[in-house]
Amino acid sequence: MTARDLSIIGAGHVGLVYAAGMAELGHRVACIDIDVDRIERLRRGELPIFEPGLDEAVCRHSASGRLRFSTSYEDALADAEFIFIAVSTPSTPDGAADLRAVRAAARGIAAAVRGRRPIIINKSTVPVGTGDSVDHILASADGHRPFKVVSNPEFLREGTALHDFFHPDRIVLGSRDRAAAERVAALYEGVNAPVLVTDVKTAEMIKYASNAFLATKISFINEIAEICEAVGADAAQVAAGMGLDARIGGHFLRHGIGFGGSCLPKDVRALAYMGSVFGTHPQLLNAVLQINAAQRRRVLQKVRTALGQLDGARICVLGLAFKPNTDDVRDAPAIDLIRLFLNEGADVTAYDPQAMTKTAVICPDAAYFASPYDAAAGCDAIIVATEWPEFQDLDLGRLRAAAARPIFVDGRGFLDRDAIEEAGFTLISGRDDASSAPVSARDRNGRAVGVSA
Ligand code: UDX
Repeated sequence: MTARDLSIIGAGHVGLVYAAGMAELGHRVACIDIDVDRIERLRRGELPIFEPGLDEAVCRHSASGRLRFSTSYEDALADAEFIFIAVSTPSTPDGAADLRAVRAAARGIAAAVRGRRPIIINKSTVPVGTGDSVDHILASADGHRPFKVVSNPEFLREGTALHDFFHPDRIVLGSRDRAAAERVAALYEGVNAPVLVTDVKTAEMIKYASNAFLATKISFINEIAEICEAVGADAAQVAAGMGLDARIGGHFLRHGIGFGGSCLPKDVRALAYMGSVFGTHPQLLNAVLQINAAQRRRVLQKVRTALGQLDGARICVLGLAFKPNTDDVRDAPAIDLIRLFLNEGADVTAYDPQAMTKTAVICPDAAYFASPYDAAAGCDAIIVATEWPEFQDLDLGRLRAAAARPIFVDGRGFLDRDAIEEAGFTLISGRDDASSAPVSARDRNGRAVGVSA
């Protein structure tokens, strides 16, 4: 492996995972962010996000000298042969991707590299065509000589991002210049994955289409689950039965309060917006978003029916992160639920093992507690909104004793219905009766086969 000098612009989730991962592969990495406080904390070994294993990897490679942090483009790009853009592209109010940070990064690169032509690799999820406009910004700011721009979308899942860096399902590289794409592919030497080289627009589209498909699977199973509930079928077993068909696959068929996070909702919105401004009618994508929003409102409606009224009720939300093993609450179902219940005049109490600080900033009107039992004290309904492993070990009897009324929602369908009901709760939404028993399936030779969701 030839060690290269890389710069990564953006010390967020993606930038930090790539910085640590590339250093681990042997490269020398300079990671830049315009947030001075963030960089100072990173230099002290303090991470701005919770991602399993990342703090250890960042500290190890800061100590080895292969990873450093800077706020200066001049300083961090001085030796760079490859520059990754890994800044965020949040949603604008109409659903488009906000590209201001990408454009600012491109201008910063052009000003710092002055005449040199490192390869620019775009990691940020950007609308189709942005690679070309980055090229345009760069070249027009620096002598009108074109740059080599490669789109290299990331498919990292939060909570397992470092693992995903080293074990990706594929590496996608989009460029007009095949040699540039191959030089970027060589950076990943040591990572065993198929490499797909395309043009820039196709690579950008692969990222959106992949996330939109995952979101579609979730909204599909949520719609099926609603029909199952109406007709008396067991949605989890339906999903398991579908998933055994290799053409369908068992992943992303867990029904519940819907998808959240920094990518799926934003990317489906951005793809739908992109389609509509190009004159297409992305009806399926719009339905995926509508079904997802309805999952949260269905919980509100069920709790309202169970309690009679929500005004003045005390609702306890357990789990705030959009999924376990992260403190990320962007577009988290729990945040929507808190806002919906507060809007109906309820009081909301909450607990999460990692995500309370971030939630308190965006939902200051909820009350946060250091334990699930304190959060549940005197409440009229409990809603579990994140499938944290520690919730499997909840002392349900203690929780029931703390709560004023016995209404329970398992928004992720992962807790044992019998145990919840034995503790004295009424489970108004959660795992269906039959699926309390593990799904059993056998192959043609009579061996038990697993069903993953
Ligand atoms: C996602 C993509 O998986 C990843 O490839 C991309 O690069 C970034 O976006 P992430 O945001 O970490 O990763 O979350 P993911 O594991 O995909 O889950 C997204 C949401 O869907 C979570 O809120 C999760 O709880 C929900 N989900 C997932 C379901 O509701 N049902 C499922 O069956 C699977």
